[in-house]
Amino acid sequence: MAYQAFARKYRPKTFDEIVGQEAIVRTLKNAIDLNRFSHAYIFAGSRGLGKTTTARILTKCLNCEKGITSNPCGECENCLEIDKGSFPDMYEIDAASNRGIDDIRALRENVTYAPIKGRYKVYIIDEAHMLTREAFNALLKTLEEPPPNNIFILATTELHKIPDTIKSRCQTFLFKPPSVQQIEEYLKRILEKENIKYEEKALHLLAEASAGGLRDAASLLDQAVTFGGGKVDLKSVEELLGIIPQNIIDRFLQLLKEKDIKTLIKGIEKLDKEGYDLSVFWKQVLDQLHEELIKTATEGKGKFFTEEDIENLIYIQNIFNKAFLEAKNFPNPKHIYELAILKLKYIKNLVAIKDLLQGNIEIQSSQLSQKQEKETKEEKQEKPSFNIQTAILKAGKEAGGIVSAALKKASIKETDNEFVILVDKSLMDIINQKLDIISKHFPKPVRVEGIEIKKEKKQKKRDEAVDKVLELFKGKIITYKEE
Ligand SMILES: Nc1ncnc2c1ncn2[C@@H]1O[C@H](COP(=O)(O)OP(=O)(O)OP(=O)(O)O)[C@@H](O)[C@H]1O
Ligand SMILES: [Mg+2]
Ligand SMILES: [Zn+2]
Repeated sequence: MAYQAFARKYRPKTFDEIVGQEAIVRTLKNAIDLNRFSHAYIFAGSRGLGKTTTARILTKCLNCEKGITSNPCGECENCLEIDKGSFPDMYEIDAASNRGIDDIRALRENVTYAPIKGRYKVYIIDEAHMLTREAFNALLKTLEEPPPNNIFILATTELHKIPDTIKSRCQTFLFKPPSVQQIEEYLKRILEKENIKYEEKALHLLAEASAGGLRDAASLLDQAVTFGGGKVDLKSVEELLGIIPQNIIDRFLQLLKEKDIKTLIKGIEKLDKEGYDLSVFWKQVLDQLHEELIKTATEGKGKFFTEEDIENLIYIQNIFNKAFLEAKNFPNPKHIYELAILKLKYIKNLVAIKDLLQGNIEIQSSQLSQKQEKETKEEKQEKPSFNIQTAILKAGKEAGGIVSAALKKASIKETDNEFVILVDKSLMDIINQKLDIISKHFPKPVRVEGIEIKKEKKQKKRDEAVDKVLELFKGKIITYKEE
């Protein structure tokens, strides 16, 4: 016997074999058991989810020689012919190539005849959304006055293109994509029936790659068996799908953890040279990172990272996600990926800046205290030398509160023969009034000079810096201290 593709060989023959459409199956079974089935259905959903298959099973339910049943025998002549697609009362019409008014007219004429062999004539109109407007109108008339013993099933991948007038006369079922796990189990069943060896991980990859369609999954499985030389193993499936082997992804994550930028960049280079699709690779890395993040967050540690890496992990994922999107519209995606890796260096630097800031503060304060210590020592050992800050303090104290406050806002410039108090124009008078008292504390004459302090500008500049820091460290302002 000629080789038969899995998708055809394993087309479900009963409702119970249909994968992933539980609600639809249950409703149809009940409808038949309770003899409450509709004369017109719409089966909507993307390719390879079982619309045609379900329509055929329904045809068997209505025409099995054992009687109308939700569990057709599968052995009588009618059942067998329906399975083969040669049953004379089952019409499979491809609306994509018979979309005109004439085709529907022919159908309308046909509905007036009695069934040839079975109880019901079933019209399965595939790609029903392709019908012309006239054809829909003609069909509508038939649906409005349904002749007895005719069932219409409109299968479509584009429900929105079916006119509302038609929809309102049909019972609509939405076929949904099965889960990866359901696809996996479906593939496993086929392989077990075929007695073909497999690795679970390989099946998982095939299931993931089938994008929800069972026909695609079965076809892919066909290819994988051939490619793997009679078995389905991880290595050949990875190769077949152009997927980067897991150990390479693992190594990449390990290097990320170690922040080994150099080797990471080399790795990208190598994959590119070996002809791997870098976007596939990147996507795998993203998936793995996500898994790692969730694991680390929920269980305290993943395969490579631990709880203390979480901030870094989020940061990496953020950068890598952006790179993935950017690379899509970039002539040389490799550059974007390399750039993303280079950006990671900033993690180190960010941490460094953070440390540095803390460190710096310590350095400054220790320098300051050393300096102060030195100064006080000097003061003690030698004659008390003149110190501007001390003079200001003393002068302020003697001149009174307001002057003291004004002096605190001033800066002092020392020249060869005088001291100049630089202060905002508005404070000039206050200080001038007490200039005599102030002068007593200085060894040289004192003069006041009014300047315009551009408050707004200064403030703005500082705020910009604050904003930068806030952004870098994802912080927020808790208190605001005036200088
Ligand atoms: N729900 C399902 N359960 C098990 N196998 C399925 C299912 N859906 C599809 N298949 C497999 O895919 C093949 C194609 O299914 P079917 O023709 O019913 O899809 P369809 O929804 O009509 O797709 P299309 O929109 O392309 O016509 C079947 O022969 C079967 O092997
Ligand atoms: Mg179909
Ligand atoms: Zn039967």
